[in-house]
Amino acid sequence: MQHPSPPLVICLGNVVADHVFRVDDVPQPPAKAQARGYKLSIGGMAANAAIAVARLGGRAAFWGRVGDDPNAELLTGGLREEGIDLTGLHVFPGARSPVSAVLVDRFGERAILGFRGEGLGTDPAWLPLDMMRDASAFLCDPRWPEGAAAALTAAEALDIPTVLDGERSETRLLLDLVPRVRYAIFSATGLNNYAPGQRIPEALRRAVSEGVTRMAAVTRGEDSTLWLMRGETTPRETKAFRIEARDTTGAGDVFHGAFALAMAEGMAMEDALRLASASGALRARDGTTAHRAEVERFIAEYGTG
Ligand SMILES: Nc1ncnc2c1ncn2[C@@H]1O[C@H](COP(=O)(O)OP(=O)(O)OP(=O)(O)O)[C@@H](O)[C@H]1O
Ligand SMILES: [Mg+2]
Repeated sequence: MQHPSPPLVICLGNVVADHVFRVDDVPQPPAKAQARGYKLSIGGMAANAAIAVARLGGRAAFWGRVGDDPNAELLTGGLREEGIDLTGLHVFPGARSPVSAVLVDRFGERAILGFRGEGLGTDPAWLPLDMMRDASAFLCDPRWPEGAAAALTAAEALDIPTVLDGERSETRLLLDLVPRVRYAIFSATGLNNYAPGQRIPEALRRAVSEGVTRMAAVTRGEDSTLWLMRGETTPRETKAFRIEARDTTGAGDVFHGAFALAMAEGMAMEDALRLASASGALRARDGTTAHRAEVERFIAEYGTG
């Protein structure tokens, strides 16, 4: 018997070339300082989510926008190495890719200077929406709302589960995107941007009250994730795994990628959130995105230990 191929998760949104410098102290100008270490890593919510999907055993595609600069070559090379389908990665001639300088001090605190890119068109007309037929889940972040809206319409028409990484962004963007997704999973800041000044339960109730949204959640780092199903009034809780955090960058992105893959696999909500929390925790503990076997071992050992 032939093995069915792993489910495809399409991730649309941001990809960023993160130039990460390790320093003793973040210098205040005027200054000239030496970095202790340097690495280039792939950042951007949807891009990190796509990498998580691939490492956790799914098939991943990344849809997004870059310029035709050296940063784009580094990013596409890195994504391709992970086995991610880049049919929907558009290179804009003369444009500049999103890039950031990340300074990490000796306490692990970071100063991030981000550039969102230049000349990256917003028109989603070129998106390979036909690919959606093969997808088992779709994930987006709020950094390219026009693209997300077009793809979400296509996904909903095909009855494909959709996930939003409700990260920090303008209130009006979140108000537009949230009702279009089935699973709206916010960061703490993102939820506050969506419903400024509201308490968590109220904000989550609001998110599941309109559109196609079936579940809304907020991740809270080392604290539990709170989630609310449409039709229920009190959020449920998924405990965070206790780990020694080394570098929490991208933990949220990985959480979302793992959750989208779990939806693609048809997992029950509690199990999906446990897989996502464990994947996020390992990313925070190790600073890298874990593979499936490692995440499952971690969950199993944690349960007994
Ligand atoms: N220190 C930690 N200990 C245990 N689990 C963590 C820790 N940090 C992150 N996680 C896991 O990763 C998930 C996402 O983390 P968090 O809520 O910090 O995301 P975020 O605010 O979107 O940040 P970012 O997107 O920058 O990673 C958490 O819900 C949790 O499951
Ligand atoms: Mg996040």
